[in-house]
Amino acid sequence: MALLLRILKRLGLIILAFLVIYAVGRPIQIWLDGFYTGDRGPYLQMMSSDAVTLRWQSEYKFAGVVKYGINPEQLNKIQREPDITEEHEIRLTGLKPATKYFYRVGDGENDSIKGIDFWFKTSPQIKSNSDKAVRFWVTGDQGYPNIIQDQVRDAMLGWVNQNPRSTNSSPTVDFWLTTGDNAYRSGTNEQFQAGFFEPYKSILRNTPVWPIYGNHDARRWVFFDIFTFPTKAESGGVASGSEHYYSFDYANIHFVVLDTEGSDLDVDGEMLSWLKKDLQATRQQWLIVFSHHPPYTKGSHNSDNKGDSGGRLITVRENILPMLEEAGVDVVLSGHSHMYERSDLMNCHYDNSSTFTASMVREKSKNNKYKKKENYISSNSGTIYAVIGSSSKVDHGPLDHPAMPYALQEAGSMIFDVKQNQLKAYFINKSGQVKDRFEIIKGVKGGVESKGCN
Ligand SMILES: [Fe+2]
Repeated sequence: MALLLRILKRLGLIILAFLVIYAVGRPIQIWLDGFYTGDRGPYLQMMSSDAVTLRWQSEYKFAGVVKYGINPEQLNKIQREPDITEEHEIRLTGLKPATKYFYRVGDGENDSIKGIDFWFKTSPQIKSNSDKAVRFWVTGDQGYPNIIQDQVRDAMLGWVNQNPRSTNSSPTVDFWLTTGDNAYRSGTNEQFQAGFFEPYKSILRNTPVWPIYGNHDARRWVFFDIFTFPTKAESGGVASGSEHYYSFDYANIHFVVLDTEGSDLDVDGEMLSWLKKDLQATRQQWLIVFSHHPPYTKGSHNSDNKGDSGGRLITVRENILPMLEEAGVDVVLSGHSHMYERSDLMNCHYDNSSTFTASMVREKSKNNKYKKKENYISSNSGTIYAVIGSSSKVDHGPLDHPAMPYALQEAGSMIFDVKQNQLKAYFINKSGQVKDRFEIIKGVKGGVESKGCN
């Protein structure tokens, strides 16, 4: 008996020692994971029609300088950083809309990064009747640095080059949005370098990026240090006061980015209170919303399962979807589930998949062309939901959610083309094939009308 007590005491001490080591060591490890030393970027943040934030990191400290101008041979404007640092961040203001600028970054003496490849194009003016052709790229859960990530990226670049918007427009995309989980496994600064900044280096120097906060990004504390997001409506919309959630406008499109990982999802919470105001204020032609956790999925996550991701998928569906549909959201894009799934034009499905009925589908189209009666955002006029979570990894799942009949266990990403009253979307797999597509046209007689839920 005495021997047993001694063994138990010793075991207890060992467990206690482990707990103490973990309690002290874990925060230290998380803190250390916040560091990355070396060159990074440049990358473009918070693009608007008259400003952009340029960020980059250098191995050594200096006060950063950006030289820029419309003529690549004559960069006649200059902006200096006030402080000496390795993590450089300079906002260029007073720019002209829809204009291509060339730039160099460095310490002012030696432009460490320069060349004809370094340019950006400012957003066009925000106008609900804009006639600009807008093309943007959407990836999801693309943070594994691997061959699939490279293939998906190159497949998009190849497809875009073969399918230019018009003979006069640039073959690149105007900007890039992700549906979250940007650096696996834990969103450390080193993982962001390997899984995000290195593989997309040549895209990031020209293409403004809006990465969404996923659960893997939230495992460390670097996401909001690495990226700069609007808090004061710097790129349009209503000021959110938080980098976690915000909105921005591009031509005739209003984008809303939600944080379904770290923010309060209560209807009366800060994020959804802001969302209500933002949705009421917009007068754009199109409304597109991003949420990492999908309301409908039967992929590598299950939106019927209360235990899945702390119930966030269900809360998104119950608390957020009614608000979005009431406001007239056209498209909701999510990630988290590592495959591709898409709905028809639908609304009013806020419960488990067993409650889904055919009457919730507002339009089912054989050729995937959907028509809406109103020319602008219109309450409860049907929404397309898509899960894009396979841009670097494909997982398994039944793919049988009744609301998501178009489902593929394939790696890929999406290209969206929006011009005036027409939106076209393409899911491009890692071989460059379009494996799903849909189109929404607004202002069509006989198109889907506003109809709320009973
Ligand atoms: Fe996720």
